[in-house]
Order: sequence, then structure tokens, then C-alpha cells
Amino acid sequence: MKILLVLEFPLKLAEELQLISVLRRAGHKVRVAAAEKVLSLVTPAGWEALCGFRPVAFPEDGLPWAEVLVWNRLSRERARAARLRGCGRPMIDLGKPSRAAWSPDKVLARLEQLSQPQDFAGKTVLVTAGPTVEDIDPVRFITNRSSGKMGVAIAWAAAMRGARVLLVHGPMAAEVPQWPAVEALPVRSAQEMHDVVREHWQEAQVAVLCAAVADFRPDHYVPRKIKKIPGEGMVLSLERTPDILAELGAMPRHPFLVGFAAETDDVEINALNKLRKKHCDLLCANDIRQPGCGFAADTNQITVYAADGTVHRIPMMAKREAADEILKLVAKFTRFS
Ligand code: CTP
Repeated sequence: MKILLVLEFPLKLAEELQLISVLRRAGHKVRVAAAEKVLSLVTPAGWEALCGFRPVAFPEDGLPWAEVLVWNRLSRERARAARLRGCGRPMIDLGKPSRAAWSPDKVLARLEQLSQPQDFAGKTVLVTAGPTVEDIDPVRFITNRSSGKMGVAIAWAAAMRGARVLLVHGPMAAEVPQWPAVEALPVRSAQEMHDVVREHWQEAQVAVLCAAVADFRPDHYVPRKIKKIPGEGMVLSLERTPDILAELGAMPRHPFLVGFAAETDDVEINALNKLRKKHCDLLCANDIRQPGCGFAADTNQITVYAADGTVHRIPMMAKREAADEILKLVAKFTRFS
């Protein structure tokens, strides 16, 4: 995007320069509208070297070029700001709330949101992500290879499209998106994930269940470390965990339901079985044997099976982009957009 960075007062120069460099690295074009006081700190030639564009003297001069305005310490000239707002360009005010809240990453996220359709505005999307952990004793547990990346990608994409997101996640490697509309609800076991989803599912119009929930857990937890007995093996007795997706699917008025299936064999048959058995509206299947697919990868190749019998193939792409493709399908089927 073309960003006009309006610097009205002498500033925290290092922060502004870092912001310019982060924005440019992300592929944005940045032009500075600098007041005279600011130009006494960095000359027009200096700004040009930093941005690749000559600075303009007043915000108005940069307006025809700009798609977004980023302001630093807007407060003094409210009237001028109002005039600029009237031009219909989106604005990011770095001065409020606290400067700390507007890290370069947050500015980037806001710019990303501005470039996305807001087809999930006013909707709540519940996402489950990551593995669950089933404790055996205080030092041992059963878990799986899920990184949480796909679930986090869905949560992020939904937030960027204007949704409020409830992200119920197990202990995962992927970072929880730092964005006001994303509410993280961390859990550990399948039972905890089940209980938190049961508490919140009625708030959601859409539920995307990406978590690799453990299907089995030890049938009882041993509160003290299990000691080995010389010469003896050990039998671990397991019981089933609640199937969160199947339970939601069995509710008479459930949210639009998107399930996931990571398969190694007979992908289509297994996916269609899961779609029907768990009453999903969409089932996203991926063959985890394929290179570039699977838990730790940053890419995924997904085939989406819909309850109406249609099949939608999403070619290999970044999980973040695949998440967008899935949400586009959700918007189409739910007629959000
Ligand atoms: N799922 C769930 N709760 C469980 C198990 C799975 O919500 N206890 C959800 C997953 O989040 C995913 C989908 O169900 O969306 C597929 O899970 P999977 O374990 O592959 O399906 P199963 O029907 O258990 O089949 P399989 O025999 O392959 O394990």
C-alpha cells in the first residue's frame, strides 16, 4: 500500500525510522509528510534516501498519492485531522492509544486488515488449534506433532477479515496472534478443550476445528511419578477422549462447522466419512505424506469437501493463504459476503 507517514512534531526518530524500514521490507511504499521542525532533524534528501520518495511539506500535498495515512502525535491539530479524515482514506493514529501499543508489527497488521474484505465483520469465529496433552503422571504425557500453525493461520485470517476470534489452543509452538479481536483461551487436555468449547460455542457463527485433539488419554492420572520395577514392562491403559467436533455436529443448532482431517491413506474416502459422521459443513483434508504438507510445514495443500457434495481444491500455498481460501468458502456457503 502507499502510506503517507505524517510527522508533525520532532519525534522519537529511531522508532519512526524503524517503522519506515519495517513497512518497506513488507513491500509497502512510504512517503513522509514532514513539518519544518522535522526537516531540521533529517533533510529532504535524507528522507528520500530512507524512503525512496522525496518528502512532501504538508499532508495535503501527499494526499493524491496516498492510500493510507499514518500519523504521529496527531492530537494538536484536530481540525486538520478531521479534514483529512474527510478525504476517506483510512488512518492509523500512532499517537493514541499509547505508543507502545503501536509497534511496527501492529501497524503492519492494521494495514493487512485494511487490504482485506471485512466479510466477517460482526461475526464470531471459534477456532481450535494445536495439540492436546494428556498427562500420565507429573512428568510424563501423551501428545502429538501438531504445531498449531494452521489453526493460528485461520484465527489470524478471520481477524483480518473483521471477525472476533476465540482461539482455543493446546500447548503449541505457533505464536498466538497479538490482535485485539483475537481472544486466546489456552487449554492443556482434550477434556479442557472440550469444556472451553462447550462454554463458548453458542457465541460463534462459525467454528473451525483445527486442533489435533488426542483421541485417547490414560484412563487414570497417577499423581506421583511412576517408578519402574526392575525387569518389568508397563501397560498403559487408555480411554477415549470426547470428540469435540462430533459433539458440536450433533447439536441441533450448531455454528457453521469446519473440520480438518490429516490423513495418510485413502484421503477422499476418509474425509467424506468424517464429513458425514461428524455433521460438518466443510471438511478440509490434507494428505500429510505429501512434501510441504503436514504439521510443521508452513505450506499446505488442502481439498475441501462440502456437505452439498461439492469439492474445492486449494493448491499448495502458505498456510496463511490457504486459511484465506477456506474462509472465502465459509463466507460463500454462509452467505456472509
Ligand atoms: N476432533 C475433535 N475432537 C476429538 C478428535 C478430533 O474435535 N477428540 C476434530 C479435529 O479437530 C478435526 C477432526 O475432528 O477437525 C478430525 O479428527 P480425526 O482425529 O482425524 O478424526 P477421527 O474421526 O477421530 O478419525 P481417525 O480415526 O482418523 O482418528
